[in-house]
Amino acid sequence: MTWHNCSPGAGRVALARSNTAGIVPADPVYLATAETLGEQLNLPVLPVGTVARDCIEFDLLLHCGDGLSLQLTGRRAPGPVTVDFGAADMRHRRQSGHNELLGRAVGVGKKSSLHVVDATAGLGRDSFVLADLGCHVLMCERNPLIQSLLSDGLARAVRGDSWLQEVAGRMVLWQGDSTLAPQRVDDPRDVIYLDPMFPARDKSAAVKKEMALFQFLLQDDNQDQAGLLHWALAQDVARVVVKRPPKAGFLDELKPSHSIKGKAVRYDVHVLRALA
Ligand SMILES: C[S@@+](CC[C@H](N)C(=O)[O-])C[C@H]1O[C@@H](n2cnc3c(N)ncnc32)[C@H](O)[C@@H]1O
Repeated sequence: MTWHNCSPGAGRVALARSNTAGIVPADPVYLATAETLGEQLNLPVLPVGTVARDCIEFDLLLHCGDGLSLQLTGRRAPGPVTVDFGAADMRHRRQSGHNELLGRAVGVGKKSSLHVVDATAGLGRDSFVLADLGCHVLMCERNPLIQSLLSDGLARAVRGDSWLQEVAGRMVLWQGDSTLAPQRVDDPRDVIYLDPMFPARDKSAAVKKEMALFQFLLQDDNQDQAGLLHWALAQDVARVVVKRPPKAGFLDELKPSHSIKGKAVRYDVHVLRALA
């Protein structure tokens, strides 16, 4: 493999304490898009054809083609992760009633046009579920690489079928720390939703590769979960909902008003006032 503009050490960008990443155009036609993205994210553009399993100079590759996908490198590299709200698993989750618990936790049905701040948006799956249930969702994501996947997924949803367009129309992305997202007077917030960790939820290949990616990217990120909960509880909202693994303790040992339990997940609901 040949490297352009990417001799080890040169052009490397720290994402967390030690992560480095490069952008790989899927084809020469995507070179200009890759360069623009490279400037925005301050990342080097690598040669077309750079393969994750052969790459040793970088920890992560952001593949840039019709959409974006992010992949860990190395011989055992899992597949690339992308945000695709129209994917079969999102549709299946909707039809199989898996979204009901999350809807109940945030209070869907208790107030029309519920406004939710997803303060840990990640790949936007929970945000999309909430928007599909009719909520207006402000997604906050502070990791620049995850932001780029999310922003790409949202842009493709806006160009998708009428269902995707309608749901995506209720989603807005704030690229930064949720505690710093500006609040306008005409920007109501009813609920803050937190999913700070990425626990093992099922063993499907798709979830495994997402988990591996998040565990790598967020290895230095876990210390402030309790701080985020205390920030959320101090905001002028009716509820704070925290997603937890079913058997985990309460975040920062703070007892919620009630919990909604499923097989793979638990939602701890802190009720601060009535939803009205
Ligand atoms: C476990 S993931 C969330 C997964 C998400 N619920 C989903 O459905 O895809 C947690 C995400 O929260 C982000 N995050 C953590 N603290 C944050 C903060 N204070 N502001 C914005 N994003 C934050 C992390 O970068 C990470 O992407």
